[in-house]
Amino acid sequence: MEHIHGHGASELFQAQSHLYKHVFSFVGSMSLKCAVQLGIPDIVHSHGEPITLHGLVSALQIHPTKAGFVHRLMRLLAHCGFFATTRVNKKQEAEEEEQDEEEAYDLTPSSRILLKDNVTGFSPFVLAMLDPALLTPWQFLGNWFREDKVTAFESAHGMELWEYGNQNPGFNNLFNEAMASDSGMMNLVVRDCKAVFEGFDTLIDVGGGTGTCSRIISEAFPHLKCTVLDLPHVVANLTDSLKLNYVGGDMFQSIPPTDGILLKLVLHSISDEDCVKVLKKCREAILNKEKGGKVIIIDIVINDIKDEHEITETKLFFDVMMMAMVTGRERCEKDWEKLFLEAGFSRYKLTPMFGLRSLIEVYP
Ligand SMILES: C[S@@+](CC[C@H](N)C(=O)[O-])C[C@H]1O[C@@H](n2cnc3c(N)ncnc32)[C@H](O)[C@@H]1O
Repeated sequence: MEHIHGHGASELFQAQSHLYKHVFSFVGSMSLKCAVQLGIPDIVHSHGEPITLHGLVSALQIHPTKAGFVHRLMRLLAHCGFFATTRVNKKQEAEEEEQDEEEAYDLTPSSRILLKDNVTGFSPFVLAMLDPALLTPWQFLGNWFREDKVTAFESAHGMELWEYGNQNPGFNNLFNEAMASDSGMMNLVVRDCKAVFEGFDTLIDVGGGTGTCSRIISEAFPHLKCTVLDLPHVVANLTDSLKLNYVGGDMFQSIPPTDGILLKLVLHSISDEDCVKVLKKCREAILNKEKGGKVIIIDIVINDIKDEHEITETKLFFDVMMMAMVTGRERCEKDWEKLFLEAGFSRYKLTPMFGLRSLIEVYP
């Protein structure tokens, strides 16, 4: 009885609310995906001022029977911080009607980076990460712990992620666009990293996807010649330019000789054992070992002590995602250091960047 009435009951209801929140947190993710699919951020943006519900409904290309549901989607999205609400003057229908106010939606920093014409356009990331191909493996995670498949992705699809991309061109494009959209934000920091790329004539972006990051770096450092090395199906059909060329290959097999090597979000997607193999290949490929040649890693570093709770939680989401989809993991500084030493590197310098990532310079 004590648990039903009194103090015990309130604790139990609190616990239940906590569980509800986590059971339904996918509703926030999927509503965000829906907003991107409907193009809501771009509609709000092109309206030029906060848009009323009526204005939004008119601009959305939806079935008339769905018009009455839009405010509920927007109420959640605004609550989650993806849109802001404000009051605007109601358009007067008749002269004698009193001027009144109504609610309108505006962008927030989060929806602003979802805009299509924004260099940091992040919408492809939302669409790819919430694509059925990457959501289905979560249904297999429990079973995966009981069987000997390498990843839950493999349990779901019968093959590993990169092979799935090879066999499904639609997903391959979606995934590569997602990675490119993630790299777009590098624009904002590369110019502040001048010293990091100083002294290089050549840079190889290992696992560089479709080359967004390399393009940004090569534009910021005009003397630098960049090469993107990625799997053949990822770089097929991409055209070389004077300062940026593509090589289809396997980072475990061979990496061409170079002054510097970039590994952005590559090592977090492979196991420790594989990281050591790739890092050893990188070390062999570096030309001027005594004159500043190095590996530059942009990746997550888990830092439980200094990080805010929410950032750490997001990094842990990434970690379990890496466990479910690929063979990788997120690492704390000690884990990274162990890999560098095992691969024969002598020292490293870690610089936290913006957002979730850090920049690590690793010297032979
Ligand atoms: C998480 S993505 C990161 C892409 C890019 N560096 C970025 O940050 O946008 C990992 C990349 O590694 C590539 N990759 C996976 N296995 C590879 C291999 N054996 N050799 C070369 N690239 C590989 C994938 O195709 C993919 O483009």
